[in-house]
Amino acid sequence: MKFGTKAIHAGVEPDPTTGAIMTPIYQTSTYVQESPGKHKGYEYSRTHNPTRTALQKALAALENGKHGICYASGLAATDAVLKLFRPGDEIIATNDLYGGTYRIMKKIFEPFGLVFHFVDMSDLANVKASLTDKTRMIWVETPTNPLLKIIDIEAITALSREKGIMSVVDNTFASPYLQNPLDLGADIVMHSVTKYLGGHSDTVMGALVLNDDDWAAQLAFIQNASGAVPGPQDCFLVLRGLKTLHIRMQRHCENASKVATWLSEHPKVGKVYYPGLATHPGHKLAARQMRGFGGMVSFELKGDVYEEAVKVMESLHVFSLGESLGGVESLCTHPASMTHASIPKEERAKAGLKDTLIRLSVGIEDLEDLIDDLKQAIG
Ligand SMILES: Cc1ncc(COP(=O)(O)O)c(C=O)c1O
Repeated sequence: MKFGTKAIHAGVEPDPTTGAIMTPIYQTSTYVQESPGKHKGYEYSRTHNPTRTALQKALAALENGKHGICYASGLAATDAVLKLFRPGDEIIATNDLYGGTYRIMKKIFEPFGLVFHFVDMSDLANVKASLTDKTRMIWVETPTNPLLKIIDIEAITALSREKGIMSVVDNTFASPYLQNPLDLGADIVMHSVTKYLGGHSDTVMGALVLNDDDWAAQLAFIQNASGAVPGPQDCFLVLRGLKTLHIRMQRHCENASKVATWLSEHPKVGKVYYPGLATHPGHKLAARQMRGFGGMVSFELKGDVYEEAVKVMESLHVFSLGESLGGVESLCTHPASMTHASIPKEERAKAGLKDTLIRLSVGIEDLEDLIDDLKQAIG
């Protein structure tokens, strides 16, 4: 089945009792049993819920994986993966990554004894240099947030397989429409479903997709035992969002590509970060690894004056200033004070993240309105 057909049909079947074409919101905490232990596969909604089951199957299908497991947020999904490890285990992670991922690693799991190395993965030599006999997992985010670096998933997964190490890819920025890490050798794909998968800025959710039965059983155990599960109404909203994922992504890519080109030609704009630009260092790799360049664009103004960057962000109207990304509406974010504030300034600087960087989540509005908005804000 092709992607668009899967986005609409995978995981969902007419409701067995009524034939309803849309999976109902099973807003129930428990399920009546005929006799102790005799039930229809559902006992308690933390463990299983039919609306969640449909969504998990749909997400697994979109990532070409066997098991889909949903969590209450993207970070809850990350938390579940990190709980697979034990004190002394070492993890190598991308240095330019979502601030909350850095925070959960450093502030929650490091005190429990996990050891993290944050490296620039655009050069595989940096990953190799951090390997030890205690390395258990490589955490990749690509395209990276917010600098949109492209990391070679196949090169990383080849290395992790050779060393017997798990590889996990945060595929939030690309979405499964543009990139399928499992097909490139990754063991687990992680998503902040909150973003492109939900697509409408109305839910917070996370998901993992993988093929390995044992790890899937452990992660489903953590899902139930730790209890960070999404509610059925949120699962319904994401099931609805998924049906237009392919169409939305096409428009996100089209708009972002034109916005990036426009910005790169603007006399007041300095560096533009968008993997679709031929000048982007990861452009060729992105063209090989992804089926499009995505809807995220970051940029800096010439001169790097903080107040000028703030003025642009305050002046935008069609782009709303706020955290998050991947919704149909355009958003503008200031990573240094918002999404990446939890990363210390020195670490941000090491990764190349300036306080003047502006990140755009380019929505699916009419392009002319987006450009007009940028034009009046930048001047
Ligand atoms: C790339 C990336 N990964 C993970 C997360 C965390 O997801 P959530 O906010 O759903 O917990 C985010 C959130 O912004 C993100 O951008």
